Amino acid sequence: MLKNEVLKILLTNKSHISGQDISNRLNVSRTAVWKAISSLKKEGYVIESVNNRGYLLLHNNDVLNQVEINQNMSVYKEFNIPKIICLNSVDSTNIYAKSISDSIPEDFLVVSDMQTLGKGRRGRSWASPPGVGIWMSLCIRPRIKIENASMITLIMALSVCDALESLYSLKCNIKWPNDIVINSKKISGILTEMSSDIDGIRYIISGVGINANNTDFPEDIRDTATSLYLESGIYINRTKLIAEIIYYFYRNLSIFLNTEDMSALKSKYENYLVNIGKIVKILDPEGSYTAKAIGIDNNGALLVEKENEIIRIISGEVSVRGLYGYT
Ligand code: BTN
Repeated sequence: MLKNEVLKILLTNKSHISGQDISNRLNVSRTAVWKAISSLKKEGYVIESVNNRGYLLLHNNDVLNQVEINQNMSVYKEFNIPKIICLNSVDSTNIYAKSISDSIPEDFLVVSDMQTLGKGRRGRSWASPPGVGIWMSLCIRPRIKIENASMITLIMALSVCDALESLYSLKCNIKWPNDIVINSKKISGILTEMSSDIDGIRYIISGVGINANNTDFPEDIRDTATSLYLESGIYINRTKLIAEIIYYFYRNLSIFLNTEDMSALKSKYENYLVNIGKIVKILDPEGSYTAKAIGIDNNGALLVEKENEIIRIISGEVSVRGLYGYT
């Protein structure tokens, strides 16, 4: 699309570039360039046009765009970049990723500015308003045993925390298995879905929701949810954060793939674990009890100690709560 080609040029030019230069480079008319610039402006890009000097991209007002996400990711040379699909609105990036998974052979990332039917775990909905959050789903096809796929969720949680620490020095915690919290309130959740057949895993879709710049929340989650902006005062550049998370994800994934377990990532994960050393309430459908959380095992199960007995909690039916609230 011409608009994306023009954007690529503007992104790499730190000073004004004339319409004529752009039209020469892209071999299109000046009018076509002008139209592309107008539509970028409509999307939210702030582009200065100065007579006799040309165009300069001042800032992007945090527009989500495939070209920019790609550009931010391409600085990381170690790993392959997934194909990026950037949408303005979608029911759910997980649902969309599933619907296109057969037609895209490589890894891909679906990002949407908003979701109309965002899905949370346990059949809950996930509030996904426009312009403020990161709503994305990464589709991967690792050659691992089906029973090890659930650890991908832990790796994604770890990667979100790594990215926030690296970009903003923000200290986040993980509420096992994969809620990310700051000051005991949730800023991010992960919904991982898998499809398999007799040959093994067909795909794993890891859906990540991050409240980035939200300033308010629906009534029902107001007490437990917060955003990165509200907690840190930092205005989050969503494009940069997406790229950083994906970078850390592939880095952590490659460590995981060496052993197909959490052994090499366990201590890093435990450093983020909010529950560690705390008495937690285990909400087991077969009966709730309290126990002390002591860490995770190599397969990502939460280990709790109850009357000198170590119990493995497997994600799924059971959920874990702090004694005095959500964490
Ligand atoms: C949770 O309940 O904590 C998990 C929330 C996961 C939300 C994300 S937003 C992007 C992706 N698409 C969805 O519909 N859900 C996940």
